[in-house]
Amino acid sequence: MKFGIIGTGKIAAKFIANASLNPEFEAAAILSRSRERGEAFAAGCGIPKVYTAIDEMAADPSIEAVYIASPNSAHYEQSIQMSAAGKHVFCEKAVASNSQELIAMIDTAEKNDKIFLEAMRPAFNPDLARLKAIIADMGQPRNALISACQYSSRYDAFRSGEILNAFDPILSNGAVMDMGSYSIFMLVALFGEPQRIFCTDVKLHNGFDGFGAFIGVYPEMAAEVLYSKINWSKAGSEIMFEDGSITISDIPGVSGIEIHRRGKPSEKLTASGIPEYKEEAAMFIRCCQNPELAKPYHELSLSVMRIIDEVKRQNGITFKGEG
Ligand SMILES: NC(=O)c1ccc[n+]([C@@H]2O[C@H](COP(=O)([O-])OP(=O)(O)OC[C@H]3O[C@@H](n4cnc5c(N)ncnc54)[C@H](OP(=O)(O)O)[C@@H]3O)[C@@H](O)[C@H]2O)c1
Repeated sequence: MKFGIIGTGKIAAKFIANASLNPEFEAAAILSRSRERGEAFAAGCGIPKVYTAIDEMAADPSIEAVYIASPNSAHYEQSIQMSAAGKHVFCEKAVASNSQELIAMIDTAEKNDKIFLEAMRPAFNPDLARLKAIIADMGQPRNALISACQYSSRYDAFRSGEILNAFDPILSNGAVMDMGSYSIFMLVALFGEPQRIFCTDVKLHNGFDGFGAFIGVYPEMAAEVLYSKINWSKAGSEIMFEDGSITISDIPGVSGIEIHRRGKPSEKLTASGIPEYKEEAAMFIRCCQNPELAKPYHELSLSVMRIIDEVKRQNGITFKGEG
């Protein structure tokens, strides 16, 4: 399948390198706002065509699908335009600024008989199903701490006075959108949507939420969800049962999983080791061939976005064009 790539950041290069391990994947064109950056990126990734205007890529009949790795605030318009132009769309997380946008993105793709899918990498990791099976075997969880906290390399620049894209709320960026989308994804993938959430966060001087936390309430358990771009954390995540617990050191990578059963030695879950971005590209292509496969991914993306809407409401976060 011939892909157009939107965005020339590090994640786009990483995605192409891994997705290209699938024989069905071909990076056929790159879109950059600058010809120079586009040509440098194309040379580095072996891409034959460079576009500097989205209309040109949309009008290219040889492009069957696009992978969107631009800032969050651009995802909505770019996805809608590409779906309307008859391309399948695979869009990076956080997939949209709010759930209204996401609903329109999915609907537009469906109206054009195309697939729209969020590139939420833990969703496509085969170890997620293994983790769910272990949870089912351990009984009713009573508490879960889901933590995705990572000191961003771009926070160094912020601390020295330079606000890079990743720390700019104008681009619908924030800790809840970035690390938060991973911890919220894991929450809903494992336990579904909570009945209520109680949120708080820590804002930086430009209104960017650097750290956030909420408690999610379920009928028979509670969950604490943490996300951050301004502090490191070693403790990781833990799902607590009456007769044991599961610890997870890396939520986005669904890895570093250990099972602790009361009175028994702890066991490590050996990771399946499949390159993550390879698997997500392969699944996206399968969804394009069989659209029914996309439905459960849509449900998860919509659940995550509804929770992000509520976190934003409680924490007073509004992005450009909202409210
Ligand atoms: N799945 C993962 O593991 C993962 C990891 C990191 C990031 N992400 C997601 O990937 C997306 C891109 O992240 P990033 O950190 O690469 O973002 P970024 O550096 O802010 O932007 C990515 C690219 O988009 C283009 N761009 C920049 N500003 C733009 C604007 N105002 N309008 C349109 N295009 C613009 C730039 O390419 P040109 O200048 O060449 O046009 C830039 O290289 C985000 O949604 C992020 O959450 C996912």
